[in-house]
Amino acid sequence: MASRAGILLASVLLLSCLAETSYGVLFSSLKQSLIVTASQVEANGTDASPGLVKAGEDKISVKWGLNQSLPAGTDSAYKTITVKLCYAPVSQVDRAWRKTVDNLVKDKTCQHNIVTKPYNASMQTFQWTVERDIPTATYFVRAYAYDAAGVAVAYGQNTGPHKDSNLFELQSITGRHVTLDIVSICFSAFSVLSLAGFFISEKTRAKKSSR
Ligand SMILES: *[C@@H]1O[C@H](CO)[C@@H](O)[C@H](O)[C@H]1NC(C)=O
Ligand SMILES: *[C@@H]1O[C@H](CO)[C@@H](O)[C@H](O)[C@H]1NC(C)=O
Ligand SMILES: *[C@@H]1O[C@H](CO)[C@@H](O)[C@H](O)[C@H]1NC(C)=O
Repeated sequence: MASRAGILLASVLLLSCLAETSYGVLFSSLKQSLIVTASQVEANGTDASPGLVKAGEDKISVKWGLNQSLPAGTDSAYKTITVKLCYAPVSQVDRAWRKTVDNLVKDKTCQHNIVTKPYNASMQTFQWTVERDIPTATYFVRAYAYDAAGVAVAYGQNTGPHKDSNLFELQSITGRHVTLDIVSICFSAFSVLSLAGFFISEKTRAKKSSR
């Protein structure tokens, strides 16, 4: 009975994982039309270049808006903006599953929402105290513009295409590291499935040997 429930759970996870794979918007298809800057807020309230940030204590200040040199109407479909904190792997030895996936639904690198606001073309500012449960790693800030249907249509970020400039080096107070966080839903679905398979084969073997 337990193993049947296990198989069912694994199948549901696996199916939802496959469904996700087929519906995501591709990051490479989004227009980079938003300007995003991010700075660290010093204790005296002044802005500084990104550096070492302590989770749960330090604040970062994010600014975003439309690149005003783009043609009028560029932003006609933009309805909301969500600003996110994104993990930027600095190491070249990262495993494949830690790297950015082009499919936005499968990309687990931008998991931390900073703020969601109605779209406004002029520069907006938001000060954010870095949440205490965010793991130690280097990060950048990205803003996505969504249309009325909630589909991502544009973006902007405070770093370059190689994600190697203006990075925040975040230090977690809980000592948690990003590797535990980035493991995708798909990865877990396959683990559950292989575990279920293992239990079934063990059970079958046990039955056979007890005969
Ligand atoms: C604010 O603090 C930073 C670093 O602690 C310092 O470099 C800067 O000069 C200070 N600015 C003012 C206006 O006090
Ligand atoms: C804004 O758009 C113009 C025109 O496409 C482009 O040349 C420029 O690099 C953009 N600015 C930024 C900061 O992305
Ligand atoms: C857009 O932002 C500007 C600057 O922050 C503000 O003055 C204006 O009222 C905002 N417009 C809307 C429609 O919220």
